[in-house]
Amino acid sequence: MLVESCPQKTWQHVTAARQRGLLTGCVPTMGALHQGHVSLMQRARTECGYVTATIFVNPTQFGPQEDFSKYPRTLQADLQLCEQAGVDLVFTPQADQMYVADAETTVQVGRLTTVLEGAHRPGHFDGVTTVVAKLLMITQPHKAYFGQKDFQQQLVVRRMVRDLNIPVEIVTCPIIREPDGLAMSSRNRYLSVAERQTAVALSRALRLAADLCSQPAAVPAEVERQMRQMLLQTPGLELQYAVLADPDTLQPLPERVLSGARAVGLIAARVGSTRLIDNLLLSFG
Ligand code: PAF
Repeated sequence: MLVESCPQKTWQHVTAARQRGLLTGCVPTMGALHQGHVSLMQRARTECGYVTATIFVNPTQFGPQEDFSKYPRTLQADLQLCEQAGVDLVFTPQADQMYVADAETTVQVGRLTTVLEGAHRPGHFDGVTTVVAKLLMITQPHKAYFGQKDFQQQLVVRRMVRDLNIPVEIVTCPIIREPDGLAMSSRNRYLSVAERQTAVALSRALRLAADLCSQPAAVPAEVERQMRQMLLQTPGLELQYAVLADPDTLQPLPERVLSGARAVGLIAARVGSTRLIDNLLLSFG
């Protein structure tokens, strides 16, 4: 496995692989890798002849009050996981290798970034789309792999790729959960033992929403109300949002939906000082 911090050299390695006729895959990450990331790398390994993983804690997607400086950095352990997953090349740039000081160009997706995470984290998605566009240009994947855990992020990336004609297929991989349902996340390692127990409320509320939706004539607003009520009654949890939305546009659902209608339940909450998100695809009964 190669480890490379230089964008140009990374581009050259992938170019050589493409010239050998290999299908290239990329798994963009910020490191602090867990089994969720490993599942993305394994999927890429089964589908592509040459797999690049990127590890870069991207400063531009963190707000001024967010956890950029304390974001976990575990490079040696990350490289081991990449190696075990069969990654060919790990791109590990420094910030000054990704951004020139007087950069004037950013990539901004419109309406999709104004709701939910976009509303709670102003500027976050501009940082994400700009860095993902750069990572895609450097690592030239035929396929790029994102986790459903960041549901809005994968939608925003898909929209960017479509709107800018970037020649890559975006593959969204399922959320990997702990046995009790907690969605795996690099930020879970911030949680104390007590907070870890509280955090399971997010996935429980989503399961409740799935059960309620599956009942005949379920009403979206009522499902949302019960999901929120459960979360608001959880001590130690500060709810930011708990909504059902259209899974393609993230717009609110109509008052009444037909049997078989699809939706996504999305939750963001703080547990102690840790901000957690989770989601579940839903189908109305
Ligand atoms: O999901 C992440 O880890 C990051 O947002 C990404 C896609 C690697 C961009 O920095």
